[in-house]
Amino acid sequence: MTSSPSGRFYITTAIDYPNSVPHMGHAYEKIVADFYARAARIRGYDTRFLIGLDEHGLKIQEAAAREGKEPQAFVDEKARVFQELYALLEISNDDFIRTSEPRHAEFVKEIYSKVLERGDIYKGFYRGDYCVSCEKSYTKSELVNGNCPVHGTATVVLEEESYFFRLGKYRDAVRSHIESNPGFIRPVERRNEILSRLREEVLDLSISRSTFRWGIPLANDPSHVLWVWFDALSNYISALRRPEDMFERYWSDATHVVGKDILWFHTVIWPAMLIAGGYPLPREVYVHGFVLDAEGRKMSKHLGNVVDPLEVARDYGVNALRFYILRAFASGQDGAFSRKDLEERYQSELGNDLGNLVLRVAKLAQTKLGGRVRSPGGAGELEAGSVIRDYFENVDAREHHRAVETLWAYIRRTNAYLNEREPWKIKDPTELEKVIGSAVEALRVIAHLAHPIMPSAASAVAASLGFEVSAISSLSSFPDAYAATVGSPLFPRREPPRRRSPPEPPSRRRKRIPSRGSRFGSGASSRSRTTRTRTSSSR
Ligand code: MSP
Repeated sequence: MTSSPSGRFYITTAIDYPNSVPHMGHAYEKIVADFYARAARIRGYDTRFLIGLDEHGLKIQEAAAREGKEPQAFVDEKARVFQELYALLEISNDDFIRTSEPRHAEFVKEIYSKVLERGDIYKGFYRGDYCVSCEKSYTKSELVNGNCPVHGTATVVLEEESYFFRLGKYRDAVRSHIESNPGFIRPVERRNEILSRLREEVLDLSISRSTFRWGIPLANDPSHVLWVWFDALSNYISALRRPEDMFERYWSDATHVVGKDILWFHTVIWPAMLIAGGYPLPREVYVHGFVLDAEGRKMSKHLGNVVDPLEVARDYGVNALRFYILRAFASGQDGAFSRKDLEERYQSELGNDLGNLVLRVAKLAQTKLGGRVRSPGGAGELEAGSVIRDYFENVDAREHHRAVETLWAYIRRTNAYLNEREPWKIKDPTELEKVIGSAVEALRVIAHLAHPIMPSAASAVAASLGFEVSAISSLSSFPDAYAATVGSPLFPRREPPRRRSPPEPPSRRRKRIPSRGSRFGSGASSRSRTTRTRTSSSR
């Protein structure tokens, strides 16, 4: 059961553009990556998790100008908003890189100089149909009715002097790396997509601009600043160099988690840059799909259908939001964000399946055993070895939604076990201890496997049943007894949503979200404390 022969795991996400506030797409990616980071940590891997912001470029310079701010002051403000959101979502990143930091520029200059020395950067003339929102030029065939294929808005023709990276020269080397490393791009459909694109000609890449200033100047020509990708992609290594050098320790075990729109940059441009600079390649690029609106449309400000993660967290709690993202969106695929689906899963899977299970076991322990549950000294009657194995096989296959499914099947099995054994009717004390003890042991496994999905809910389960969530290996040792207490419901029944007032800026809105430190972490706002009645046997 190991996906990392070295026992190390370095996981990164795309660094977000802070030109606006974060949306559900940003939150989605960080939650998915956080799941994998936490799953690696509880397996005992030496794990490092990086997220951050892509702060340079014309788009940021223009957004700052619109607010009458200097770009640095503008990104400093936005960085706070992003970091607050990610802290609220319980993202367990070890570092947060910002491309305006000196430590970042230091590595960018290093890799740029190496590629330059090798003769792979030259001055040329750039012409492109450019979309300011995408920060990207399109070929004529990529345009849709002459407009940007992503935003549907008009592009502008850009013609200017630029430095180019000889990307074309590295096409065969990159292709051969992808061919000989089947796990380099996952899922496999994305790998096939890139391999087929690599059968065609690959053009050199324009990497600098002289028409704006908000970027890292080129060492050989300070009248130019680096253009998006050479700058942004370097973050994955620049963050490993300061304050201490962690490159040797982590780099060859790197997994990049990125959206499908930036597949090419991570699987072709970045490897080519690394080969040209003489650096080893990361282990894997895992590509996720997009969060769409409930009707399956792309989210956009223009359509007014952007889902705000803060609003969903306020209504359902951070645990439920994380659960929904990991459970309802098949790994690698696009998925629709539906409040109706979230509501249903909240009631049935979180409330009835998990929330009620915890309450009924804690109550049984309290009423039947005075709160002290002796451990069966083994798994008891709900053996979970195969569950743990399947769960981590799904983690290794980057099929997190199946890992959640595996856990939920076990949760339901535990509920069914209690329904069959009917401990509330058992008179024999040894038998009673065996059944309740087996259920507590099952919940210990459940809390551990739930931790990467819903960290604070998992801790609340543990607190109620008298154990701690730690490494998976701890599950094979058994204490003498557990001290169980009945806590408040994990996922209290929700009243029908009230009419919401118009959205406020995130910094103000954030204050009303339940804090991480509450009894059950960031559970749903408890408008009502009624528990569910479907599994009514917690007598
Ligand atoms: N700054 C670049 C990435 C540079 S990485 C060296 C960028 N930023 S972004 O803010 O536009 O997007 C950040 C991440 O969010 C990307 O991986 C992108 O795919 C992801 N998402 C943006 N919208 C999304 C959805 N609607 N759904 C899921 N993820 C999407 O690209």
